Amino acid sequence: MKAKGIDQMDPSAKEGSGAIRHHDYVILGAGLCGMYGLYRLLEIDADVVVLESHEDLGGTWFKNRYPGCRFDSESYTYGYSFSPEVLSEWSWSEHFASQPETLSYLNYVAQRLDLRKHIQFGSQVSSAVFDDELTLWTVTLVDGRRFTCRVLLAALGLLSAPVKPRIPGVETFAGSSFHTYDWPEGVKLDGKRVAVIGTGSTGVQVISSIAADVDSLVVFQLKPNWCAPLNNSPITTAEMEQIRGSYTDIFSRCDATPGGFVHGPDPRSFWEVPPEERRALWEKLYAAPGFGIWLGNFREILQDEDANAEFSAYIAEKICERVDDPQVAAKLIPKDHGFGVNRVPLETNYYEAYNRSNVELVDLEHTPIIEINETGIRTTHRQFDFDIIVYATGFDAITGSYDRIDVRGVGGISLREKWADGPLTYLGVQVAGFPNFMMLGGPHSASVATNFPRAIEFSVKWVSGLIAYMRGRGCNRVEPTEEAEAEWTDHIRELYQRQLLRNSTSWFTGRNPNIDGHDKTRYLIYTGGAPRYRKTLNEVANDEYRGFHFS
Ligand SMILES: Cc1cc2nc3c(=O)[nH]c(=O)nc-3n(C[C@H](O)[C@H](O)[C@H](O)COP(=O)(O)OP(=O)(O)OC[C@H]3O[C@@H](n4cnc5c(N)ncnc54)[C@H](O)[C@@H]3O)c2cc1C
Ligand SMILES: NC(=O)c1ccc[n+]([C@@H]2O[C@H](COP(=O)([O-])OP(=O)(O)OC[C@H]3O[C@@H](n4cnc5c(N)ncnc54)[C@H](OP(=O)(O)O)[C@@H]3O)[C@@H](O)[C@H]2O)c1
Repeated sequence: MKAKGIDQMDPSAKEGSGAIRHHDYVILGAGLCGMYGLYRLLEIDADVVVLESHEDLGGTWFKNRYPGCRFDSESYTYGYSFSPEVLSEWSWSEHFASQPETLSYLNYVAQRLDLRKHIQFGSQVSSAVFDDELTLWTVTLVDGRRFTCRVLLAALGLLSAPVKPRIPGVETFAGSSFHTYDWPEGVKLDGKRVAVIGTGSTGVQVISSIAADVDSLVVFQLKPNWCAPLNNSPITTAEMEQIRGSYTDIFSRCDATPGGFVHGPDPRSFWEVPPEERRALWEKLYAAPGFGIWLGNFREILQDEDANAEFSAYIAEKICERVDDPQVAAKLIPKDHGFGVNRVPLETNYYEAYNRSNVELVDLEHTPIIEINETGIRTTHRQFDFDIIVYATGFDAITGSYDRIDVRGVGGISLREKWADGPLTYLGVQVAGFPNFMMLGGPHSASVATNFPRAIEFSVKWVSGLIAYMRGRGCNRVEPTEEAEAEWTDHIRELYQRQLLRNSTSWFTGRNPNIDGHDKTRYLIYTGGAPRYRKTLNEVANDEYRGFHFS
């Protein structure tokens, strides 16, 4: 069978043979990103199905049900901007909504836009193999079902592959233990002896939320993070009306900032502003809601070691003011990196949790964990017994959900092998050797480092434009050239060199002791800011999609 236009398959293939179902487009993942991808494809009457491994939609917001899970994006900047109906009907109750509210929002969107009937839940994809002769992807699920499609769109999530720590005996604990991504329903915490391992954004939210409810809480901290107050508050009805009337301005503001948030960098130079004025700004930002303290600060804080050191010292002072015991405060102040080079956890009473008599901080740099055993955790200092161990140990970020699928391109080339030392992409959209495989908010895109929905709406629209271009020209195949891919990947590496985050050991650089082969820096994200990313991609589109090869 010879391939035809991008969505004009032979009817025989459409009906499928045996258990194989054909759709012109298959989207992998029904999180925020896959849902919008679906909406856009339905708008052009495409024959599309979404395959989702979970039992329901929402991805991040379906799975992360741990106590305290909420936005660090302002709620009204996180919602989709494309639907006037949704914007006019949905009301957020807090400036930084909690997980249940966000999940309700996504369910409301799915119902309002009638998306559910196009999503197949309980459909975990294990492999995706490209047939070069037929220009066709075959997608196989873990239960053996198979689908074929002309175009395969990945909306697999950047933080959807949870990772437990590599600690001897991790499977031997007789109590209840789970990763925060898999927080079980109905866990009772009161009266329980609880351990939390990990102090990233997730650990920080869990610790602050459960400290008062549990009998005892021991926090196992490898390295501390620089945290700052979220300063959340309810949104009144009147405020929501005002927000509703300002959506155009709010989204334009987000579009104008590098991070896609309402917070853009202070335009002044750090060194030209007198120290007392700098401090006055920081006091204001520390008391203000959201990421202003990180992204509304002087640019130099993220680029210049001296500026960063001065600001980090300011935040260290705040930690010391908030934590009663100076020795505990000292353990909570990062020594290996400055403020903001890792994603900043925004917190509510996190530092105050350590002033409680039932909370203990174990500094694993001084007393490492030797093992997890039947009754608890043994460090070089002593044995701790628990009823519950919570792993807030993060994710195989950005490429983990790709690596968990056996994706094979032209000639059987493996995506996992191609990306063994980090992703290679063109524009964060496609990979050479993998025709018609398109990533929505994938590695090397701007989505990863920014207010996600703002960037993802752009990525989905851009990919829709690429598909429309192919349809318009009667093409059925697109892939980037090797040269374009190499150039873009070099550009990503080069952008890292301008930022202090190049030295970080967080998921921004993909170094993770819990994953084989992730001991060196991986260049995962576009750090040039969302406006520049959009400009570049729009230029490529206007230049007849230079760097792509169509046939
Ligand atoms: C706790 C937490 C809080 C966050 N808060 C914010 C925030 O405030 N602001 C912000 O901008 N971002 C935040 N993020 C990032 C967040 O992940 C994104 O905002 C966004 O939700 C990602 O949407 P997505 O659709 O790309 O990915 P996901 O929501 O992760 O969805 C991906 C989907 O793909 C599915 N999938 C993966 N592999 C397979 C497979 N093999 N087969 C079938 N289906 C598969 C998954 O099951 C999942 O449903 C947060 C992340 C976490 C973990
Ligand atoms: N909206 C929000 O407020 C919010 C909330 C949660 C998550 N998120 C998003 O999700 C991202 C990931 O957050 P996350 O906290 O889940 O993951 P994370 O930032 O990667 O943090 C993982 C934590 O686990 C620790 N850890 C890993 N392996 C360990 C081991 N073997 N022993 C002891 N500790 C270990 C890490 O320590 P080291 O750092 O020392 O390695 C780190 O403290 C965030 O950066 C953010 O983008 C957002």
